[in-house]
Amino acid sequence: MTETTAVLRPHAEEAFAGELAALAAADDRPRPVNWALSPWAVVTYLMGGTLPDGTRIVPKYVGQRRLVEVAVATLATDRGLLLLGVPGTAKSWVSEHLAAAVSGDSTLLVQGTAGTAEEAIRYGWNYAQLLAHGPSEAALVRSPVMTAMAEGRIARIEELTRIPSDVQDALITVLSEKTLPVPELATEVQATRGFNVIATANNRDRGVNELSSALRRRFNTVVLPLPATVAEEVEIVSRRVADLGASLDLPPVDSAADEIRRVVTVFRELREGATADGRTALKSPSGTLSTAEAISVVTNGLALAAHFGDGLLSPGDVAAGLLGAVVKDPVSDRVAWTEYLEAVVRERDGWGEFYRACREVTA
Ligand SMILES: Nc1ncnc2c1ncn2[C@@H]1O[C@H](COP(=O)(O)OP(=O)(O)O)[C@@H](O)[C@H]1O
Ligand SMILES: [Mg+2]
Repeated sequence: MTETTAVLRPHAEEAFAGELAALAAADDRPRPVNWALSPWAVVTYLMGGTLPDGTRIVPKYVGQRRLVEVAVATLATDRGLLLLGVPGTAKSWVSEHLAAAVSGDSTLLVQGTAGTAEEAIRYGWNYAQLLAHGPSEAALVRSPVMTAMAEGRIARIEELTRIPSDVQDALITVLSEKTLPVPELATEVQATRGFNVIATANNRDRGVNELSSALRRRFNTVVLPLPATVAEEVEIVSRRVADLGASLDLPPVDSAADEIRRVVTVFRELREGATADGRTALKSPSGTLSTAEAISVVTNGLALAAHFGDGLLSPGDVAAGLLGAVVKDPVSDRVAWTEYLEAVVRERDGWGEFYRACREVTA
């Protein structure tokens, strides 16, 4: 469990240090060179389980075990791992936990944006040092990727497809040659065993900076799907809201089960453009109604309930957040939302209070 410290969001390897240590102690399977755990133990860390000594490993990823096995097996090969999926499918979350379990370090991170420069993947210079003493080891500023190569760890690259293509190309040498030349010092940094790269990319970004085929070939792709069923999505939201709530001192989520199910149902129906029974076609709003957004709607609702209500999550506490998540485009999304409200929510048994709360914030 997350320790109570002043840090708002400890890294996975700190938050779950106890689990990782128990896994390492129980793990008698072969570990690839420089891995902190065996592939089996890494999968157990992600999927959850109980160790022979009774230590409970909480599930981090809720979904198909096979996907995680493929991801972990890939990291033990010479190909990188590309996690692909729509926003909110836990790509970053899985990437962080994989790096924490494999290398004991999830912090060698490059955040991909349109402004990501080659220095973020190769290296830069400390200019004061450079001007004073010329190029030297001491003036070199290693990128997270270079550090990962030198130390045999996992480097993480977030939102790979947002990085300009010429900068992406710097990764090709890294992944194929496993070396980073430093011509200024007439030297190179060679990757040591245990080094690999986990990249994430949003498949809605397609066409932004399409991965070159040369780079794509250096990766095995694992597609993370949206949760398959309402029950699965409710479990993910409940679990994450409980974790977040504990670190923010919010009330426990047990009492929130009804509202969580409702929020998840609304999200799924609007996302899929049809009611759960398949009878009514719906307009889909423009925003991504992802699990991650459902988590934040419920967390916000709990904060409202805690600070301005009676501590119990009520329909009124989630209504405003829900409206904000659904209506991104003030015109077309509002039409979709109002139609859904009148045609579906209003008619549904036991949803009366929720309907009235939504009407109140929508008006
Ligand atoms: N299948 C899942 N299992 C566990 N958590 C999930 C799942 N899907 C979404 N989440 C949660 O959703 C949140 C957002 O995930 P994130 O990794 O930021 O998404 P992405 O990087 O794909 O946009 C995380 O808190 C994560 O715990
Ligand atoms: Mg992400």
